[in-house]
Amino acid sequence: MQFLKKYSQAIKIKMAISDYVLLHTGQKMPLIGLGTWKSSPGEVKEAVWNAVKTGYRHIDCAAVYNNEAEIGEFFKEHVGADKMVRREELFVTSKLWNTKHHPEDVEASCCKTLEDLKLTYLDLYLIHWPHAFERGDNPFPKNPDGTIRYDFIDYKETWKAMESLVKKGLVKAIGLSNFNSRQIDDIISIANIKPTVLQIECHPYLAQNELIGHCQKHGLVVTAYSPLGSSDRLWKASDEPFLLEDTNVKAIAEKHGKSPAQILLRWQVQRGVVAIPKSVNPARIAQNLQVFDFTLTEDDMKRIGTLNRNWRYIVPKIKVDNEFVPRDAQHPHYPFNDPY
Ligand code: A2P
Repeated sequence: MQFLKKYSQAIKIKMAISDYVLLHTGQKMPLIGLGTWKSSPGEVKEAVWNAVKTGYRHIDCAAVYNNEAEIGEFFKEHVGADKMVRREELFVTSKLWNTKHHPEDVEASCCKTLEDLKLTYLDLYLIHWPHAFERGDNPFPKNPDGTIRYDFIDYKETWKAMESLVKKGLVKAIGLSNFNSRQIDDIISIANIKPTVLQIECHPYLAQNELIGHCQKHGLVVTAYSPLGSSDRLWKASDEPFLLEDTNVKAIAEKHGKSPAQILLRWQVQRGVVAIPKSVNPARIAQNLQVFDFTLTEDDMKRIGTLNRNWRYIVPKIKVDNEFVPRDAQHPHYPFNDPY
C-alpha cells in the first residue's frame, strides 16, 4: 500500500512536469498554460480541472474575462495540501483591467481577483492594456454613441501601485500586457521592481520578432496569447487567414505525426516563448500540453518563420450600429500605432 502511494505520487509528479522558463525573480513559469479568455462561466471550471488533471501547472486569468469566480471554485476545492495540487506547484496569472489604472484602485482590484480566485497570492499580475478607461465598475463605460469613455492616467503611475502589491505579498511578480517597446522602456525607466513578463498576441502570422528581441534584451519573458489564432473570437471576419488551416503548418504537422495546434505551440516553446492556448475541450486541452516529446528541425522553424505577415487578429473592436468597428486607436496610450 505504502509502495502504491509512493508510486502514484511519483506518477503525479512526473505528469506535472512540463518545461518552464525562469523569471528574473527566480520563479519557474511553465511554458504552456491554459488560456481562459472566451471560456464561459459554466465551462471554465471543468476546463481548468481537466487541464490540471492532465498536468498543466499554469493558468492564465483576467478580471475582465468575467469567469474568475468560477475558476476560484476549482482552486478552492482542488488546490491545497492533500488535494489535487499544492498551491506552490501552480503558476496563476491575472490582469488589472483598464478601468482600474488609478493607483488608489489597483490594490482593491487585485484583492477582488484574489477573492474571486480564492487565492491568497498571485504568481503574476499584469497591466492588461496601457490605455485606461473611465474609472468605475462598468468594464466598458460608453458614451451615448457607443464609443468608450477614456481616462488618460499615465501607466507609470499605475506601475508604482503594482510595485506595492509585490511589497505587500499579494503578488509574486508584476508585468505588462499589450505594451509596445517604447511603453516598456517608459516603465523600465521608473521601475524599482522590473517587469518580468510581457504578454502579447503572437503566432506565426504575427511573429513579433522585434518585440521579443527587445524583451529578451531587458530580461522580460514573453507570453503568447491567441497562439492558435483565436478563431472563436466574437468579431472574427470571414476573410481572415485561418492559422490552423495553413498549408505549411499542416505539412509540418503531418511530417511529425502531430496536429497543427501542436506545431504552433512547439514553435513558440522552442524559441523560449510561453504560450497559453485556450480550450474547453478535454482532448484538445491534453493535446496542447503534448509538445515536449518532439523537436522541430531548423528547417521547420525557418519555414514557420517565413509565414509572418504582421497579421493582428486581436484589435479591440466595439459594436456600433450592429457592426464591429476598431476601438481605442485614438487614445494616446494605444499600443498598436507604433511599429513594435
Ligand atoms: P475549443 O475551446 O473548443 O477547444 P487561442 O488559444 O488562439 O485563443 O485559440 C482558441 C481556439 O482554438 C478555440 O476556438 C479552441 O476551441 C480552439 N482550439 C484549442 N485547442 C485546439 C486544438 N488543439 N486544435 C484545434 N483547435 C483548438
